[in-house]
Amino acid sequence: ARVRLYKWEVKYEFKSPDCYKKLVITINGRTPGPSIIAQQGDTIVVELKNSLLTENVAIHWHGIRQIETPWMDGTEGVTQCPILPGETFVYRFVVDRPGTYLYHAHYGMQREAGLYGSIRVGLPDGQTEPFLYDYDRSIILNDWYHKSTYEQAAGLSSIPFVWVDEPQSILIQGRGRFNCNAPGIEAGLCNATSPECVPYALTVVPGKTYRLRIGSLTALSALSFEIEGHNMTVADQDPSRNYWASAKVVSRNSTTPNGLAIFNYYPNHPRRNPPTPPPVRPRWDDVGPRLSQSLAIKAHRGYIHPPPQTSDRVIVMLNTQNRVNGHVRWSVNNVSFNLPHTPYLIAYKHNLLHAFEQTPPPDGYDYANYDISSVNTKNVNATTSNAAYRLAFNTTVDIILQNANTMNPNNSETHPWHLHGHDFWVVGYGTGKFDMFNDPKKYNLVDPIMKNTVAVHPYGWTALRFRADNPGVWAFHCHIESHFFMGPLGNFSDCAFSQCLLGVEILNKLAINKIEDITRCQV
Ligand code: C2O
Repeated sequence: ARVRLYKWEVKYEFKSPDCYKKLVITINGRTPGPSIIAQQGDTIVVELKNSLLTENVAIHWHGIRQIETPWMDGTEGVTQCPILPGETFVYRFVVDRPGTYLYHAHYGMQREAGLYGSIRVGLPDGQTEPFLYDYDRSIILNDWYHKSTYEQAAGLSSIPFVWVDEPQSILIQGRGRFNCNAPGIEAGLCNATSPECVPYALTVVPGKTYRLRIGSLTALSALSFEIEGHNMTVADQDPSRNYWASAKVVSRNSTTPNGLAIFNYYPNHPRRNPPTPPPVRPRWDDVGPRLSQSLAIKAHRGYIHPPPQTSDRVIVMLNTQNRVNGHVRWSVNNVSFNLPHTPYLIAYKHNLLHAFEQTPPPDGYDYANYDISSVNTKNVNATTSNAAYRLAFNTTVDIILQNANTMNPNNSETHPWHLHGHDFWVVGYGTGKFDMFNDPKKYNLVDPIMKNTVAVHPYGWTALRFRADNPGVWAFHCHIESHFFMGPLGNFSDCAFSQCLLGVEILNKLAINKIEDITRCQV
């Protein structure tokens, strides 16, 4: 195993990723930032200098479990205090499993200002994958707004509520194409000939097999990704031309144009447009195919262990939209989450147990009387709390994420829920209200896949199971940036949709004095 050292400087720069110029956050001048490429067992060291001048920063290594290093998880407010402007902070952690991961800012809404990148962890020397390929490529998909994250954040926090609306572009590997002739675009801000917005070209050699690692870090949209004419197993089409690769919004009735890249067969020129029109998007509200795709994906036997056949605890999380003091918020079981002022791990280290509320949030909701299919009229107002769930060490926990109608009639959204510090088995998906008695009998306990982020489809539920075997305090939240957004002073000022999972017994196992003091905190 090796040590891989990265020196990163994070700062604001003017860039035009979709031809429209705005301030974006770069790492060493780039967005997406540099890829981390390592092998299982390596230690990653990132020396991060915060040159944002007036803004804090923290970076989360999405999918890396941080076994025995929970303080390196990069979740500001949960595992660390933010890195202050001008400071350098050193992240150091082991990548313990091969796979495709992402990293992104976990402070405010900086992720959607461009602070993200990919992590690729290969097998150790001498070991081989269960499938063969010639080349390995990573592609990150993202959606892109022209308004600054501050304007968006301020809108989300005001009364009346100002929604962020649909993004202007979809970026494929950091590049998109906004129509500079659109009405109302100020002259000089949009330059269709800027080299920064030339479509991303993925060049392949005919007859070779490519592994594509496709990650999405969208702020709002769920995407459908396709490569025209390819069934995504092998590069096997007519090699005399190029093809489109496109990413399209599917979860919302969106005005955002499709993202386009060029799938380039060598030796065709990578800028030559394919001769056919780009693929069209599926109907946005056609949930059926997405649900059946979710259901169809099974683990390759022998590579992922089946889950424990029973669980020790079941937590049902009803996802609703509510109001708190007139603000629009998301909540779980009618409780909307606030971050404490002192990150949990630091509170533990210094024994500051008054730093967060001690009564844990509810494990369920009023199943019998809650109608998930219409606008919530009973519990319009949610309460707020910074309490965390406490999971006993080495227990098996089921979480059922139950979707519901939002505050608008006939509307339920897609939520990608992400668990830090663990992988989970996705044991079931369903439509309508989860049936505590019958649905668990239909769980796939034979060959479910393991993930760390999973979709909860509109009006549906998703069941996941995991072992609480990684001592620490871990965020569990909807990965939509504006649903997760945290306002000043560490409070979720709006749309908070997040829960922290914490194990007291877990933390006792992890000798508390091992918890490192991370960055200068005002405790
Ligand atoms: Cu990728 Cu807490 O996020």
